[in-house]
Amino acid sequence: MRMKPSRHLLLGLCSMLALGFLYYSSGRISLQGWGRKSLYDKQGFLLKLDGGLPLELIYKYGNLSEGACKPGFAAAKMTAIYPKFTKVVPMFLDPNYKRFSKIGDYLPPFGIKSQEKIIDILLSATKSYGLGEELDSMSCKTCIIVGNGGILANKSLGQRIDQFDVVVRLNEAPVKGFEKDVGSKTTMRITYPEGAIQKIERYEAQSLFVLSAFKALDFNWLRHMVFNQRLQSTDGFWKSVARRVPREPSDMRILNPYFIQEASFKLIGLPYNNGQMGRGNIPTLGTVAITMALHNCDEVAVAGFGYNMSTPHAPLHYYEKIRMSAIKESWTHNISKEKEFLVKLVKAGVIQDWTNGICGAGC
Ligand SMILES: *[C@@H]1O[C@H](CO)[C@@H](O)[C@H](O)[C@H]1NC(C)=O
Ligand SMILES: *[C@@H]1O[C@H](CO)[C@@H](O)[C@H](O)[C@H]1NC(C)=O
Ligand SMILES: *[C@@H]1O[C@H](CO)[C@@H](O)[C@H](O)[C@H]1NC(C)=O
Ligand SMILES: *[C@@H]1O[C@H](CO)[C@@H](O)[C@H](O)[C@H]1NC(C)=O
Repeated sequence: MRMKPSRHLLLGLCSMLALGFLYYSSGRISLQGWGRKSLYDKQGFLLKLDGGLPLELIYKYGNLSEGACKPGFAAAKMTAIYPKFTKVVPMFLDPNYKRFSKIGDYLPPFGIKSQEKIIDILLSATKSYGLGEELDSMSCKTCIIVGNGGILANKSLGQRIDQFDVVVRLNEAPVKGFEKDVGSKTTMRITYPEGAIQKIERYEAQSLFVLSAFKALDFNWLRHMVFNQRLQSTDGFWKSVARRVPREPSDMRILNPYFIQEASFKLIGLPYNNGQMGRGNIPTLGTVAITMALHNCDEVAVAGFGYNMSTPHAPLHYYEKIRMSAIKESWTHNISKEKEFLVKLVKAGVIQDWTNGICGAGC
């Protein structure tokens, strides 16, 4: 699937937004369904989100010592507010991916249709499909998704971030020089070609390189990176892309596209558009990463998400000088609808927001 130039422009506009954080938009969240006497909103979330634990969870977790990892906590909380939640969705594609029927019928970014051949080639080269022996064998894992928002600056959260079992970073967010605020551990870096670090020396020594494919071309790009081949052309990308990724094939993964599908159509409620990309139905990478974590981590935290539009001179990202005021409304993403979803997660205590950017003063 090649994209038309106009599409590049749209995606280009979202480049900053795709880095994984949200508009802080004023105005209240409107909940669907108040008029009807349903307990649930249009997406299937409980309307009353008080953050309390269901009784059976109080019993289950009540005796754990303070700070201990609570097995199954995020999924249990999620199911309590969103009964349609099904826990088991593998983080990465593995050779059994064709059995996972939910992604077979959709083209990228919502599935793998038309890409099976290249995915088979990729998976037979990477040969690894998990987080690594140590993490895979843990019975309880805590994860933090580190967004790129300026809200992370000068909060000295680095040490606390490093205490998580799994630290997820997005795109080109740097670690070196920012350790005090963002930590130094990177378990995985989820990225797409246009967002990937381009300077080889800026990669951390170790981390999984995880592709979140937003278009068919992205799989082809990964093939070049995995086999260390020269990229002949960058037609079809909306900005320059990394030409080399300093990782062994065994450290590369493909994020399960189901997380994009689920985030867009089910959790956020973006336009279905016949199951194809369009009408602003692409979730930001940060929300895709959170969706992945809900299925694969026992506890989920986020930091560096959200920005406060009433401080237009504050930095947009923690690592560069662009100001908040540079942000424009995006046609690719629907930031305000996405925020409604994340607010539900924070309000209900499904995820913890360490920099308070998702709710701001509003939860
Ligand atoms: C928690 O502790 C109480 C009191 O010590 C005990 O009665 C209860 O069975 C414990 N619950 C669990 C889940 O271990
Ligand atoms: C963080 O602190 C540095 C040094 O004190 C300062 O220059 C910078 O403006 C601060 N950034 C934010 C976002 O407050
Ligand atoms: C976002 O979704 C809302 C509610 O469906 C809609 O009114 C709005 O136009 C959408 N915005 C964009 C940028 O697509
Ligand atoms: C945004 O920034 C302003 C000014 O610093 C502050 O008063 C307000 O509480 C902030 N809003 C949120 C949601 O953090």
